[in-house]
Amino acid sequence: MPLVSMRQLLDEAAKGGYGVGAFNVNDMEQIQAIMGAAKETNSPVIIQASRGARSFAQDRYLFHLILAAAELNPEIPIAMHQDHGNSFETCKSAIELGYTSVMMDGSLKEDGKTPASFEENVAVTKKVVDFAHARGVTVEGEIGVLGGVEDGHGAGGTGLEHVTDPDQAVEFAELTGVDALAIAIGTSHGAYKFSKKPDGSVLKMDVLIAIHKRLPKTHLVMHGSSSVPKDLQDVINQYGGKLKETWGVPVEEIQLGIRNGVRKVNVDTDNRLAMTGAIRKVLWTQPEKFDPRDYLKPAREAMQKVVAQRMTQFGQAGHAGDYQAVSIAEIAKGYKDGSLSTKPLVAR
Ligand code: 13P
Repeated sequence: MPLVSMRQLLDEAAKGGYGVGAFNVNDMEQIQAIMGAAKETNSPVIIQASRGARSFAQDRYLFHLILAAAELNPEIPIAMHQDHGNSFETCKSAIELGYTSVMMDGSLKEDGKTPASFEENVAVTKKVVDFAHARGVTVEGEIGVLGGVEDGHGAGGTGLEHVTDPDQAVEFAELTGVDALAIAIGTSHGAYKFSKKPDGSVLKMDVLIAIHKRLPKTHLVMHGSSSVPKDLQDVINQYGGKLKETWGVPVEEIQLGIRNGVRKVNVDTDNRLAMTGAIRKVLWTQPEKFDPRDYLKPAREAMQKVVAQRMTQFGQAGHAGDYQAVSIAEIAKGYKDGSLSTKPLVAR
């Protein structure tokens, strides 16, 4: 199957009432791990690259690796997504390269650190929406500010400083016409999200539910959704690592989100932990090894296991064959003639 529009993939997820994991990649092994899991569980999938990933791997390497994934797995719908675009130019370059979806994270200024005003966020996001939709490309926006830092992008902090205001979320969706909306509900990027298992005072699921009630048809996005499982932390620490005790987002909370409009679930850290643990184990227990394949193969397998588990937990497993890809040119026509709506349904 050619790469699909993320809008199509999320519309289908909404029809089926499931969530879709969006997994970050930087290299071939991670892409193979995701595709192995997608095949194993028969899942549609979103593969996403941050600005940091694009510069680490170089654009054309990463782009062609993801194209290879599509070529080798024609039965799997794959959306190729720019994670946390910091400017119109970043999103434009991803679109011109062939990404089928971009995130314009206008919640921060172009430095990727300083919170932006609502007006600045609306202006830059709308500019990306106009450019992207004319080319059939999906846009995710963000309202409220996530905590933590990922690949140098992020305001830092706990994630509770700029929780999304439901009224602003409605206004933002109406003014920009985004296809998917990332909201801040107390999650943050990275391994150190919470110093104890998060409860209702930390994870603002009530805010998510309130936003879904007001925007019942808008695809919501949960960033910072790694669960940071203890067993993955333990492998790293058992073989010489020094992770401090930490908690991530419990899978049950993500599933509650999925029952309330969350369609895209961003996961990076869990995969990083799985790969690093597997590599540490080989290097620690078999110090005589020096062929990279001796540790990259177990690393790839460890990541595939986590991704397959998440695909099952998010409900996307079994849905790869539900639909055929609509071409990006057709999607562009849909935005133009209004058959693909960009006006959110608002419950007042
Ligand atoms: P984690 O750090 O929780 O995996 O979040 C990743 C993410 O949200 C990417 O945008």
